[in-house]
Amino acid sequence: MGYKVVVAGATGNVGREMLNILAEREFPVDEIVALASRKSLGTEVSFGDKTLKTKDLDTFDFTGWDIALFAVGSDATKIYAPKAAAAGCVVIDNSSLYRYDPDVPLIVPEVNAEAIHGYAKKNIIANPNCSTAQMVVALKPLHDRARIKRVVVATYQSVSGAGKEGMDELWNQTKSIYNPVDDVPAKKFQKQIAFNVIPQIDVFLDSGETKEEWKMVAETKKILDPKIKVTATCVRVPVFVGHSEAINIEFEDFLDWQEAQDILREAPGIMLIDKREPGGYITPIECVGEYATYVSRVRQDSTIDNGLSLWCVSDNLRKGAALNAVQIAELLGSKVLKKG
Ligand SMILES: NC(=O)c1ccc[n+]([C@@H]2O[C@H](COP(=O)([O-])OP(=O)(O)OC[C@H]3O[C@@H](n4cnc5c(N)ncnc54)[C@H](OP(=O)(O)O)[C@@H]3O)[C@@H](O)[C@H]2O)c1
Repeated sequence: MGYKVVVAGATGNVGREMLNILAEREFPVDEIVALASRKSLGTEVSFGDKTLKTKDLDTFDFTGWDIALFAVGSDATKIYAPKAAAAGCVVIDNSSLYRYDPDVPLIVPEVNAEAIHGYAKKNIIANPNCSTAQMVVALKPLHDRARIKRVVVATYQSVSGAGKEGMDELWNQTKSIYNPVDDVPAKKFQKQIAFNVIPQIDVFLDSGETKEEWKMVAETKKILDPKIKVTATCVRVPVFVGHSEAINIEFEDFLDWQEAQDILREAPGIMLIDKREPGGYITPIECVGEYATYVSRVRQDSTIDNGLSLWCVSDNLRKGAALNAVQIAELLGSKVLKKG
């Protein structure tokens, strides 16, 4: 016997990947339903070799369904996730709405799988921000060995992190630069994204940092260790899929770069590609459609006693969202619900 699974936001970037990954990983599904807004009623989406017709989230009855993977944004999550949870369906949510709620576990299975048991307080589990998810996968095994004190990270985040509209804006703006008849002004992003980089993701806070930067700090503390200090600069780049991060780490204990490479090579969820030669590292285009979090360019930071720098790349729609959510569903299945 398997699970009755709901995918809410099935017409979106993350929702479509959730359906792909559930099928690829042969998640034990007895029944599956794809939901989106009313305007997408009947839109066809793929689940393995099957085609599902999208239904309306607004009128859906969650009674009798086991797990709901949500990727609809915070506003819709606020309305529909409590309904699903109250009907006895465990929600795994991709929005930021519940991530900082002390009664909701925020989980990256390679890092804090044991937090799964906290789901029962609200019947909701939160999935982290895409840039946090890949970073904590890389930090965890190094933290276990040498205790991380401080992290300085700069991100290079793809436009798919801003949903379907973000990808369309880069595509149409890029075309319009070659064919200036169709002017495509900035709408989803604050400035032109084609052939540009933008040092703003999400809104500004009073501190001067952006909400995306704040999320990386708060989520790393919740998932990995509240004692770790993090400072982030989050930047949108004209890449369709795949987030990259330049990460500088200060440890309590000395960690040699070669030992760090050995640790990362063995760590769950990580693929080390680090040849110290031209092209001997990973770039975002190479990680599209992959499960792994890739690490390259591991090197000593000689400006501090116990420091390392590295480069970390992952498919933001997969490890940063849909894959992590499906891994949480697998964890929930194996540790709690125990069907299938
Ligand atoms: N993209 C990433 O890298 C990433 C990473 C981590 C987390 N997330 C989070 O995942 C969520 C989805 O992101 P996305 O990139 O997949 O966005 P997207 O491509 O814009 O898709 C949004 C999906 O939500 C549905 N939706 C929106 N409002 C709805 C409503 N009121 N009722 C029913 N369905 C509604 C849309 O349905 P229609 O097509 O019918 O409008 C669509 O299926 C967001 O919370 C985002 O922050 C995204």
